[in-house]
Amino acid sequence: MVATAAECFSEYPAVPQTVVMPAVAGTVLVTGGAGFIGSHTVLELLNLNREVVVVDNLVNAAQGVVKPASLERVERLTGKAVTFYSLDVLDKPALAKVFKQHEISTVIHFAALKAVGESVEKPLAYYRNNVNGTIALLDVMEECGCKSLIFSSSATVYGSPQSLPVDETHPTGVAITNPYGRTKFVIEEILKDLCVADKEFSAVLLRYFNPVGAHASGDIGEDPNGPPNNLMPYVSQVAVGRRPKLQVFGGDYDTPDGTGVRDYLHVVDLAKGHLAALPKSAEPGCHIYNLGTGSGFSVLQVIEAFKKASGRDIPYEVVARRAGDVASLYADSSKAERELGWRAELTLDDMCASAWRWQSRNKYGFSAPPAEGDTNGRA
Ligand code: UFG
Repeated sequence: MVATAAECFSEYPAVPQTVVMPAVAGTVLVTGGAGFIGSHTVLELLNLNREVVVVDNLVNAAQGVVKPASLERVERLTGKAVTFYSLDVLDKPALAKVFKQHEISTVIHFAALKAVGESVEKPLAYYRNNVNGTIALLDVMEECGCKSLIFSSSATVYGSPQSLPVDETHPTGVAITNPYGRTKFVIEEILKDLCVADKEFSAVLLRYFNPVGAHASGDIGEDPNGPPNNLMPYVSQVAVGRRPKLQVFGGDYDTPDGTGVRDYLHVVDLAKGHLAALPKSAEPGCHIYNLGTGSGFSVLQVIEAFKKASGRDIPYEVVARRAGDVASLYADSSKAERELGWRAELTLDDMCASAWRWQSRNKYGFSAPPAEGDTNGRA
């Protein structure tokens, strides 16, 4: 079911456009483009007049009237059409047809399963979707002569960091605590090997820190399936009254207030990071960048900022640490600034204000409210 949201579209404050139009031409294929980061990136690509084709298997995205709800809203916001194919990247014949139908110059590869806890329960599903899915995509790219990929990696490849802030020279693959994180690490290694073997191939590995927030319109945003695993969507569902209270995982870390510290990054800044990486994706070789703000905020600081943005109370209780969490993780993103001309510009207050705009206007995300008697997702 899809919310009839026509009435909730309105003018929204302009977001400063600081990324210059990349020199690289051609159509960009976005896998997983109906998801949270994918849809924000598609919107920014369209705003720069790039030709965009999206493939998504919709396991983590609500269907709209004729295409994913997130992309229908992106079309409304940009006034541009998105070419969309409902397919899984593991389906090589279907994917090859897309490459034959469009002149794809670069692929931005988001499609993946991403729930850390679920990956512990279902490791094979994670290796199949994330690792085999990427190999299937690379096979098709090879067959069709496309040699440029921007990969959605994660700060999780650093495991438990030995020093902070973490830069790209920090060792990876050591002490990663879950299969999801290992899939990101394994894919990075595959791409590095591919760049050694094929001197024409370009891979840009973007290691995201903690993407949060929503487009300034409040019309697209994060819409997790079931109870959110991550802090910001959980906090916003408490604020909007879908859940009674937040559990703060651990109050005894070696941090200023005892709660975990992370580098939260506005999803619009992150989307623009992909645009800034496009010219690099035309240079053969493997290019690695952290995308973060360089500042760490604790769970309690996020709660305070969200309270201020929403004007709502956020009840919480401090409980035991969550297995696999590190005390603090924040980025040194100076390489992205030096080489890509990219820097995060939006603040924690911007992240909370936009997340609240999205959540308060779309209490149940892209879905209609649950039917009478169905309490799933409600407090
Ligand atoms: N937290 C809570 N309560 C919650 C959820 C989270 O207290 O209900 C805390 C966590 O313990 C942590 C902080 O909020 O201290 C951030 O947790 P998130 O789950 O939002 O984010 P993580 O840093 O654990 O994970 C994120 C991405 C992963 C990625 C990882 C890389 O979700 O995909 O960063 O470090 F692998």
